[in-house]
Amino acid sequence: MELASSNGVDPSEFVSANGFELPPAAELAPAALFGVRGKVCLVTGGGSGIGAMIAAGLCAGGATVIVCGRKDASSLAAALTRAGPGTCAAVVADITDEVSRAALLAEIATSHGKLHVLVNNSGTNWREPLASYPVKAWRKVMELNVEAVFALSRSAAPLLRAAATRVDPARVVNIGSIEGVSTPPHETFAYSVSKAAVLQLSRLLAHALADAERPITVNTVLPGPFPSKMMRHTISAVGEAALADSTELGRIGRPHDMAGAVVYLASPAAAWVTGAQIVVDGGCIVRPQLSMSARM
Ligand SMILES: NC(=O)c1ccc[n+]([C@@H]2O[C@H](COP(=O)([O-])OP(=O)(O)OC[C@H]3O[C@@H](n4cnc5c(N)ncnc54)[C@H](OP(=O)(O)O)[C@@H]3O)[C@@H](O)[C@H]2O)c1
Repeated sequence: MELASSNGVDPSEFVSANGFELPPAAELAPAALFGVRGKVCLVTGGGSGIGAMIAAGLCAGGATVIVCGRKDASSLAAALTRAGPGTCAAVVADITDEVSRAALLAEIATSHGKLHVLVNNSGTNWREPLASYPVKAWRKVMELNVEAVFALSRSAAPLLRAAATRVDPARVVNIGSIEGVSTPPHETFAYSVSKAAVLQLSRLLAHALADAERPITVNTVLPGPFPSKMMRHTISAVGEAALADSTELGRIGRPHDMAGAVVYLASPAAAWVTGAQIVVDGGCIVRPQLSMSARM
């Protein structure tokens, strides 16, 4: 063993004392432990906001990334590919539509034959007072934020299984929200409930998709405030400074924060992590909040 010659540790003595073998240093180096090079990753809603941050992080790690959305995101995909070292391709797909979901997965099957990582990031929000909150809006939010996550994960399972190995499972990463585990300052009834549902759905999928030979892990990331189209109204109404002040760390999220969490969950470092949640919110939910709604 490399270690024995470099520092005099006797491997067999080490095993009998500790019950495990020290892996070669190269396997524990960050490039290997947090590497996503060559992994085929689908990021729904990857053409904007948090999805674009995730796609950029995976691409920078050398992954083959596919972003999808109702709008064409080829210019972002081309920019990420130029930045490399991975590649990014854009596919137009409405993931609330069964036919569109099937076409998206068929395209990935034809081009790659497998899928290592599915990031269920697409989402929508609706804010309105309780008395007038439209049931139609409730259904629209639930359809994208919960039903599509369920349906796409289930349909993608065969492609994910094809990529999975015993030591390097395929991954599903669901983007929830801290609004699913705390009371939001706005009247976002369906959104908040949908994000609570995503968390529970992730746990159920983590159980349903687990397998010793071809495992698929399922984890949830719970972002706090990040700049995006969805957050534009809140940022302009409340001000970035007030949002920053709602966190313990005094700022809103940066692309690095989101990329870091998802790259970790996609990497060998998280091979044994499933059914877990990572809160990426700068300490928002642990901070005693003043009511922001009063200022909007
Ligand atoms: N920004 C935050 O502070 C924050 C905090 C917590 C959680 N989140 C979550 O992060 C995720 C991304 O949101 P964001 O803030 O980055 O907002 P965003 O920029 O508005 O992203 C939403 C994405 O969803 C896609 N999308 C919407 N309907 C779709 C459909 N039917 N089929 C496929 N894709 C669809 C959009 O693409 P098209 O319009 O092209 O379809 C868009 O790329 C959401 O799940 C959101 O709940 C955001």
